Amino acid sequence: MKQLFYYLAIAGTLTTMACSNNETVQIEEPAGMASKEEMIKRGDYLVATIGCGDCHTPKKMTDKGPVPDMDRFLSGYNAAVPLGEYDTTIANSGRWALFYGDLTAAAGPWGVTFAANLTPDGTGIGNWTLENFRKALKEGKYKGIDNSRPLMPPMPWQNFAKLTDNDIESIFEYLKTIKPVQNLVPQAMLNMPPPQKS
Ligand code: HEC
Repeated sequence: MKQLFYYLAIAGTLTTMACSNNETVQIEEPAGMASKEEMIKRGDYLVATIGCGDCHTPKKMTDKGPVPDMDRFLSGYNAAVPLGEYDTTIANSGRWALFYGDLTAAAGPWGVTFAANLTPDGTGIGNWTLENFRKALKEGKYKGIDNSRPLMPPMPWQNFAKLTDNDIESIFEYLKTIKPVQNLVPQAMLNMPPPQKS
């Protein structure tokens, strides 16, 4: 249990650092039943304003600096690109967390995590049910499966736990409409065994 709090504390801190807009944005949910089309529109709005792409979309360099690579929109860490070397002493020190240049991977005391492929490809969330998606976002379960490992930093699922089920469904419906990208994101390299359920 103590270990779980440790992970949660890191996740909370990182979220505040990396996505401080998450903490303050208040999003009103439309009243009444929404049509599929309205849900998709709202999902688009939520993904854009929460900034899922900050971590889940690779960036490409332009003469104006790095921009999201829309050919790989929300497809996670690009498995074809080697991670390269990084300073494991700093990453493991507990005092620093390191981000891969385009923010799709991060290293810290928990190990190394890679932002997931959220596109509707089979290597992404193409075979996920809405319930898998809800469990991942609201309960922090890897692949949205009961008894799987907890999702690690910097995925700010603790914030997303506060999303309504309607919003979760809107995001899910929207993600099903984006371009599928085949990209099998590498497994996380975790330093510590995931905390056991207490
Ligand atoms: C600050 C970076 C960051 C932001 C912002 C972020 N994510 Fe993530 N996300 C990650 C990382 C890193 C992982 C992988 C964590 C792991 O392997 O434990 C992840 C994992 C996930 C997973 C689990 C995938 C799986 O295979 O279990 C889902 C689903 C997900 N993110 C959806 C979202 C959505 C939707 C948003 C926006 C509403 C979002 N994320 C915002 C970094 C982020």
